[in-house]
Amino acid sequence: QRLVLIGPPGSGKGTQAALLRERLCICQLATGDLLRSAVTQGTELGKEAKKIMDSGGLVSDQIVLGLVRENLRRPECANGFILDGFPRTLEQARKLDELLAAEGIGSLSAVLNFAVSDELLKRRILGRWIHPASGRTYHEEFHPPKVPMRDDVTGEPLVQRSDDNLATLTKRLAAFHASTKPVLDYYEQRGILHRIDASKSINQVRQQLSEALGVDL
Ligand code: AP5
Ligand code: ZN
Repeated sequence: QRLVLIGPPGSGKGTQAALLRERLCICQLATGDLLRSAVTQGTELGKEAKKIMDSGGLVSDQIVLGLVRENLRRPECANGFILDGFPRTLEQARKLDELLAAEGIGSLSAVLNFAVSDELLKRRILGRWIHPASGRTYHEEFHPPKVPMRDDVTGEPLVQRSDDNLATLTKRLAAFHASTKPVLDYYEQRGILHRIDASKSINQVRQQLSEALGVDL
């Protein structure tokens, strides 16, 4: 399977991508996670990206495309992949098609549109805690860790993302709405777009994905 997950901040892309990755044995490439790891490593790219991410804007198409190109070559992606949070501009969508063709990878099998109202997203984002090393995500209310503020597997402390505050979230939502409609139209025309009601519980969203993809999740 070659999948794309599109949805606003807090719609559950990362949560479901982790499930899909485990069940389908394919790789998960989240451009947000790749950018955050560049920030942690303190690379030039990371320094540039951090400013933009903390302001809620979009990092340049060129930078994210470079990251995707590099990571799609990882051996664990040979079996298939989940792109989480990419493409999010029409330019990125077109370049992705070119990239897949140039690398001799098959075209996308499905694009999943995680639809959910802005109001619900605030609660999801403001209650989120993450374990940066593994990418595992928790929520104070909806998906609490076994021990408060600790990762279930390693017991290490959880942290909040620097862009998970109300001011930045408002800008991230605006950036999402401004750039994404043309991307959804692009995939709709290709007949590979599936609408998922992402306001439902984590399990109910998983069931919808299972039906849309015709696989047991
Ligand atoms: P990115 O990291 O992709 O952030 P985002 O798109 O804002 O999405 P999130 O990661 O916030 O949400 P999610 O949908 O993964 O939700 P999650 O599963 O964690 O991007 C960050 C920044 O990087 C961007 O702003 C931009 O600057 C830059 N960037 C990234 N990609 C780019 C690109 N392609 N081009 C340009 N710039 C780019 O869930 C959220 C919370 O809710 C969690 O606590 C979870 O436990 C909980 N939850 C999940 N599902 C449910 C449910 N069904 N019910 C209740 N709670 C739930
Ligand atoms: Zn995410």
